[in-house]
Amino acid sequence: MAATLREPVIPITEFEHSAFCRTDESLASKPLVDELKANIRWQRLPKEYMGMKPEVLYPRIRAAKEKLGKRAVILGHHYQREDIIQFADFKGDSFMLSQNAARQKNADYIVFCGVHFMAETADILSGPRQQVVLPNINAGCSMADMAPTEDALDAWDELSEVVGSGLIPVTYMNSTAAIKAMCGRNGGIVCTSSNAAAVFRWAFERGEKVLFLPDQHLGRNTGVKVGVPLDEMAVWNPFKTLGGLSRSQIQKARVILWQGHCAVHTRFTVAQIAEVRRRYPNVKVVVHPECTREVVEAADMDGSTEFIVRTVTQAPPGSVIAIGTEINLVSRLAHENLDKTVFCLDPVICPCSTMYRIHPAYLAWVLDELVAGRVINRVTVDDETARYARIALERMLQVV
Ligand code: 13P
Ligand code: SF4
Repeated sequence: MAATLREPVIPITEFEHSAFCRTDESLASKPLVDELKANIRWQRLPKEYMGMKPEVLYPRIRAAKEKLGKRAVILGHHYQREDIIQFADFKGDSFMLSQNAARQKNADYIVFCGVHFMAETADILSGPRQQVVLPNINAGCSMADMAPTEDALDAWDELSEVVGSGLIPVTYMNSTAAIKAMCGRNGGIVCTSSNAAAVFRWAFERGEKVLFLPDQHLGRNTGVKVGVPLDEMAVWNPFKTLGGLSRSQIQKARVILWQGHCAVHTRFTVAQIAEVRRRYPNVKVVVHPECTREVVEAADMDGSTEFIVRTVTQAPPGSVIAIGTEINLVSRLAHENLDKTVFCLDPVICPCSTMYRIHPAYLAWVLDELVAGRVINRVTVDDETARYARIALERMLQVV
């Protein structure tokens, strides 16, 4: 197999991530026309929705939801704005929502307020007559965009040629359906941040090495959790021949980490942790495992979005908790736990810009269209891809 040399391409979504960063406290939605000034790519929608204020959009969403009744179920990821979460029938992290999508046997429409890879997963796990709708089709994920399918398939071929059998592909939920299918086809599996350690153990029961895509930080932090030393993990750079690794480095590695990251979680730093410890000597710091290794080491705890929710809700009154994850979730936890001091590690407010693209105007638009019998922004996965991706996802749903 000839080695492939690639042109470095940084996803546009990565550049757009600071678009909504600000220093004031408000996360409240403005009319879409004002938010468009943030200068990122938005999906076009009918003009009438552009100038609508949230107080006009809310009753409109409520009315459409009522008309649709049980025919539509709205799923909301924890990182969605409050203006969206208030309409969600179920909220959760990507693991819980994928379980929920699989259970929604009676709804005709699954309106997924989250990002594109989550909607694809819902389409794979839902029934054949159900349709999945993503309110803003430009709601992607910059980390998932760092692993284009073709690059991942080439990497798999190149690595298999060096390693032979015994390499298990594991992909984080945040990846294309085609990468999930590659895992299903080759004895691999999907994971989320909730079950990554259990999935690594599952993989090491079946092979000697893991190829982990696309988040190097979650992969490294999970490798450490299951006892793989740091010097037995290597980073695969998709822009370099053979990932920038020698054959002997590949042979020595037990975990090969795709060189991807989350622009939201890599903003957290060890210096921010030192600063909150100086200001609040009794603080507990809890971070998401998409943060860098140094940040996870400096924190008191790390875990999935659901783990963070549990940690805060179960903490005794008076606790002081600094959190390293997406700001919409941190702000919701702070409001729901007024007997505790809960705040974000980063003093600058930086929502995930792709999750943020699900503005209430889009939710109103797609629901109004469903009421009128038209399906806008349906997300579908072709049968062949879905068949193999489902294998990898069903393996995941069985590993807790
Ligand atoms: P969870 O798996 O914790 O839901 O995370 C999804 C995600 O996109 C985190 O950045
Ligand atoms: Fe993707 Fe990071 Fe946003 Fe999660 S928080 S959707 S990983 S960019």
